[in-house]
Amino acid sequence: MSDVLKNKLQQKLAERAAQGNLRELKTTAGLIDFCSNDYLGLARSERLRALIQKEEENYRHLPLGATGSRLLSGNHGLFEELEGIIASYHKGEAALLFNSGYTANVGLLSALPQRGDTVFYDEASHASMKDGLRLSFAKTYSFRHNNVEDLRQKLKHATGQVYVVVESVYSMDGDKAPLVELAQLCAEHKAALIVDEAHAVGLYGSKGEGLTVALGLEKQVFAQVITYGKAMGSHGAAVVGLQVLRDFLINYSRAFIYTTGLPTHALVALKCAYTLLPELAQERERVQQLATRLYQKLNKLSGIRCTPENSVILSVFPQQPRQLKALAAALQQQGFDVRPVLPPTVPAGTERLRVIVHAYNSEEEIDGLVQAIAKGT
Ligand SMILES: Cc1ncc(COP(=O)(O)O)c(C=O)c1O
Repeated sequence: MSDVLKNKLQQKLAERAAQGNLRELKTTAGLIDFCSNDYLGLARSERLRALIQKEEENYRHLPLGATGSRLLSGNHGLFEELEGIIASYHKGEAALLFNSGYTANVGLLSALPQRGDTVFYDEASHASMKDGLRLSFAKTYSFRHNNVEDLRQKLKHATGQVYVVVESVYSMDGDKAPLVELAQLCAEHKAALIVDEAHAVGLYGSKGEGLTVALGLEKQVFAQVITYGKAMGSHGAAVVGLQVLRDFLINYSRAFIYTTGLPTHALVALKCAYTLLPELAQERERVQQLATRLYQKLNKLSGIRCTPENSVILSVFPQQPRQLKALAAALQQQGFDVRPVLPPTVPAGTERLRVIVHAYNSEEEIDGLVQAIAKGT
């Protein structure tokens, strides 16, 4: 490597460090989990593990890895079987698997909107959606977070086919999109609504189908992006929508076409997770109750603001944002895995502690965390 390039990279890292935003990989084994996306505990479920081991026996005839793109050697019956399960679970006509939520968003949003079309996306949308749109030839504009009025004004100037892109539950702020109002507005403007359900799947709907189905909006939403690395305890993602959308993506989505399909064990894990998901009503209720407990207790502390209500993703804002990294470090020292979220992941001035509640957290853990935060601020 040339010294010039090496120095340039070191300088970029030094800039981050000077801003206090340097990202580093850490392992946190043994700490109390207030950080992972394993909301319902499926990633650590012995029941799911046993089910997967048993089910894998039924697919011994399949290769371990897909061996190629699904358009070449990589397709087999389990993909199609699972996509049938996914489509009917989320009440769409068809589903197409992608290798991750990141890839699903990039694969969908780079391919679907065409030159001359217009896309409006919520400014708080996940990086994968923004990256997908950067690869699109359509015109793309953000609208203010969860602000239907701002979107309404901007829609007046749209051309071509119009798309509106949102998350049902926002990954950083934990708040919900006003999906009913958005669906109504999209219907008025013949706009196609695309909803990333990453943080709603498992948690909302009588069987954990996600917010779109929970609100009965599956016919009004053009595409749902369902991801499997969070409440489903696994990995991968699917786009759910019309059969013609699936056929289109198979033909035009480069993130689907030019990559090896998911390995068999991942497909089996997803099939088994879908078997258990309807039975997790108690976990769904418990995680919401624990989140309410934490929300209420934190908001009673002076010098602390916690938002939003009724979410398992909570943001904790100390009065002095400068304390944030030190506070997170102190909490980790005391055994709580809580991370600060800093720019550029969130806009400057909105840095916060991100606390995620799980069905397997205990009341004592919640109360212990509140005490530790009270002591540290
Ligand atoms: C809203 C949202 N969409 C997509 C993704 C990406 O999903 P995956 O982790 O499966 O790539 C994430 C995860 O960070 C997310 O929060």
